[in-house]
Amino acid sequence: MKKFKSVGMVFTIAMVILMLAACGNKAASSNNGGSGEASNSPNTQATTAGTDKSGGASNKKVVLGFSQVGAESGWRTANTESIKQSAKDAGFDLKFSDAQQKQENQIKAIRSFIQQKVSVIAFSPVVESGWDTVLQEAKDAGIPVILTDRAVDSKDTSLYKTFIGSDFVEEGRKAGKWLADQYKDAKEQVNIVELQGTTGSAPAIDRKEGFEEMIKSNPNLKIIASQTAEFTRAKGKEVMQSFLQANKKIDVLYAHNDEMALGAIQAMEAAGLVAGKDIKIISVDGVKDGMTAASEGKINYIVECNPLLGPQLMQAVNDVLANKEIPQRIVTEESAFTSDEAKAALPDRKY
Ligand code: AHR
Repeated sequence: MKKFKSVGMVFTIAMVILMLAACGNKAASSNNGGSGEASNSPNTQATTAGTDKSGGASNKKVVLGFSQVGAESGWRTANTESIKQSAKDAGFDLKFSDAQQKQENQIKAIRSFIQQKVSVIAFSPVVESGWDTVLQEAKDAGIPVILTDRAVDSKDTSLYKTFIGSDFVEEGRKAGKWLADQYKDAKEQVNIVELQGTTGSAPAIDRKEGFEEMIKSNPNLKIIASQTAEFTRAKGKEVMQSFLQANKKIDVLYAHNDEMALGAIQAMEAAGLVAGKDIKIISVDGVKDGMTAASEGKINYIVECNPLLGPQLMQAVNDVLANKEIPQRIVTEESAFTSDEAKAALPDRKY
């Protein structure tokens, strides 16, 4: 009887130990990333059970929070489609938010992604400055951030894992070099007007910088007017109209994207001018509408900016979640087109 009693005791103690151990494990896992405590490891809390098509680090579904700039241009539409399709192909749960060109909307979206404990946050910042606080909040929550398309000017580069996108300064240089070559023998002043992208945005700042760098060695190449048209066709038309009213002789238009160049062409044609002949036009992007105008000789030179960043982004998400080393900067490969080259490339253009 005594023997049975002590066996029973041992059994009861063992059960209590097992139960305590199980409780301990549960508590530990709910503290993991769930407490909002600072952590630099990728947050997998928001992953949901599902089939892993992604080839990622776990068999849980990856949740990607993405904040897009808006829908201002054909380029942006192609970029959004690329991201949505690639997320689907990767088997990710994409939480997509359109900021409608407002930084405050992007900050709100990022904070909401943090609250939802998504696996990774990606965004294309509408402007370069003012991101440190919210990026620090994401870092403190242990959620990795990936920049796509546009950069931020934060000094602390540990606030994001990588920046995938074009070299906008190089794009500006290509535009400036083509112009400098065209006018290398010019004896008179060449009057250039410039349509800038969104004020404070990386592409507007960098495309201006690269262009000016390449034309400065020729004092005949002079920018006589420069204004933002916010990367849109409607504004491009409006600002070009005012340039035409204020300036008797305009030789060249440098537009920071196709959309603004297309609006400017409408303004030129309404004023009885032949786009591409009376005024030479250089633009950036290479979307279908821009390439069509170039193939018709209305745009003389297009510097390509590739919007199809989705596959590279999804790869980076997988790598970050698998704790793989990834480069701090991933530059997209791009080319440029004269009118003839645009005509040849147009049939295969995907966007
Ligand atoms: O950030 C990329 C730029 O944004 C594209 O050149 C422009 O068309 C878009 O709106």
